[in-house]
Amino acid sequence: MSVIILGIESSCDDTSAAVIKDGVMLSNVIASQKVHEAYGGVVPELASRAHQQNIVPVVSEAIRQAGITKEDIDGIAFTRGPGLLGSLLVGTSFAKGLSLALNIPLLDVNHLHGHVLSHFIKEDETTEVPEFPYLCLLVSGGNSQIIKVNSPSDMEVLGQTIDDAAGEAFDKCAKVMGLPYPGGPYIDRLAAEGDATRFKFSKPHIAGLDYSFSGLKTSFLYTLRDEKKVNPNFVEENMADLAASLQKTIIDILMDKFAKAIKQTGIKTVAIGGGVSANSGVRNAVAEYCERRGIKAFIPKRSFTTDNAAMIAIAGYFKYLEKDFCDINLPPFARVTV
Ligand code: KG4
Repeated sequence: MSVIILGIESSCDDTSAAVIKDGVMLSNVIASQKVHEAYGGVVPELASRAHQQNIVPVVSEAIRQAGITKEDIDGIAFTRGPGLLGSLLVGTSFAKGLSLALNIPLLDVNHLHGHVLSHFIKEDETTEVPEFPYLCLLVSGGNSQIIKVNSPSDMEVLGQTIDDAAGEAFDKCAKVMGLPYPGGPYIDRLAAEGDATRFKFSKPHIAGLDYSFSGLKTSFLYTLRDEKKVNPNFVEENMADLAASLQKTIIDILMDKFAKAIKQTGIKTVAIGGGVSANSGVRNAVAEYCERRGIKAFIPKRSFTTDNAAMIAIAGYFKYLEKDFCDINLPPFARVTV
């Protein structure tokens, strides 16, 4: 018998709803919030209000585009956390209300697990999916982790950042360069035109498989401060080379530990996920590293790197198969708990 899951994502500033049937995506609707652009970052209170406005039309549109009725849905998956509490409350409350009204199971999903499992979203029956176990490099604005994925419900964090995430390094350095928020995509575009060997920034020396990006941020800031004393137009005149050198340093840091994890575990299937996995340099570095060593690499479509409900629906689908339903009283959580 077929299983149809409605996924709902509202952890930050995107309201999204998706429908998947037996793992195949039927719809994935995303309403991004433009209201934050003027503030240089996401304003939590404005985000929750925008979610409240968006949630009903976004869910209706996802159901319409999937060509189903709400009575066809077997389970509702929602992002329980981590994220902004006010934003999470909107999706969580909506999911609970709809599951009560339709009398169908509720499936709580950890947003990070959604990113890790996004490689199982099938666009049709021919989509290739990873085999377990695989290693996932999860890189976003809030996290940088190397995860050993043994099964959809069994994930081991082998390493993670002890301070800033890779996305924060992109965004904070971009801000110092005067670029809009979030700066990651701007750095990516500028880097394509620049010389990545022009500037050197400090790299961390951390034992094991953990990451650190706060030293790089400081080194970048001090370089710009010192150079601007000599030439006030230094940043404007060197935008592309600065972006390329910064991006290369972040990729070197990421790949150093990821390669170490691949060697230590001997695992031959890897994947990347999270907002920073949209970065052209990160994608190329992982693809090239794996190709040279006969390792199978799963690089997500760019539309699955940012927050989306299809990844929440697929993670919920696995839980549905396990009958791992959630209690209606379960509250959302803001911080990473796993
Ligand atoms: O996963 P995500 O959408 O949100 C979080 O859960 O944090 O990731 C957002 C992060 C931001 O830091 C953004 O700058 C970064 O992903 N990002 C990129 C690119 N696209 C998004 N960083 C570098 N290059 C990109 N092309």
